[in-house]
Amino acid sequence: MRQKGSWTMIDGIFFEGNTVFRFRYSLRRGFLGFAAALVCLATTLPAWSAVDEDAARALAKKSDCFKCHTVDQKKDGPAYREVAKKYRGKADAESKLYTHVTTSPKVKIDGEEENHQMIKTKVDAEIYNLIRFILALPNP
Ligand code: HEC
Repeated sequence: MRQKGSWTMIDGIFFEGNTVFRFRYSLRRGFLGFAAALVCLATTLPAWSAVDEDAARALAKKSDCFKCHTVDQKKDGPAYREVAKKYRGKADAESKLYTHVTTSPKVKIDGEEENHQMIKTKVDAEIYNLIRFILALPNP
């Protein structure tokens, strides 16, 4: 059957080590003949790679998280080591913290309700890198 002007999209994904390749292959058939486009994206997925501690700290700094948190000591917010302890072994830890830092829930600071600070990036890979950095902190 002749498919004049219609596009056929082929989406694909394949992995190699820590890198995921996504590709989209578009075919166009019509009287002009045949046009094809290939887009190939290579993204490093933090899920399979080690946490990038420098990037995690830089994002926390940029997002003013250290105003209320430190790794070791309680300030207005809990120490990140305590957060890691609280969530140790909990399967939903990452999704809980993702919601916590992206939806600005109400938290209590000195008895006053405030909206929790939002993370200052929209890139999930960067957000999960910070979350995994926090959750991987060992307890003394
Ligand atoms: C104005 C102070 C303040 C800032 C800024 C702040 N936090 Fe918090 N954070 C808190 C408080 C208070 C809590 C405790 C909330 C509770 O347990 O109800 C908290 C809790 C948390 C928790 C633990 C949540 C849980 O479910 O136990 C994480 C993780 C966290 N903050 C990460 C961050 C990150 C990442 C940033 C930067 C984007 C940030 N916080 C910025 C005050 C702050």
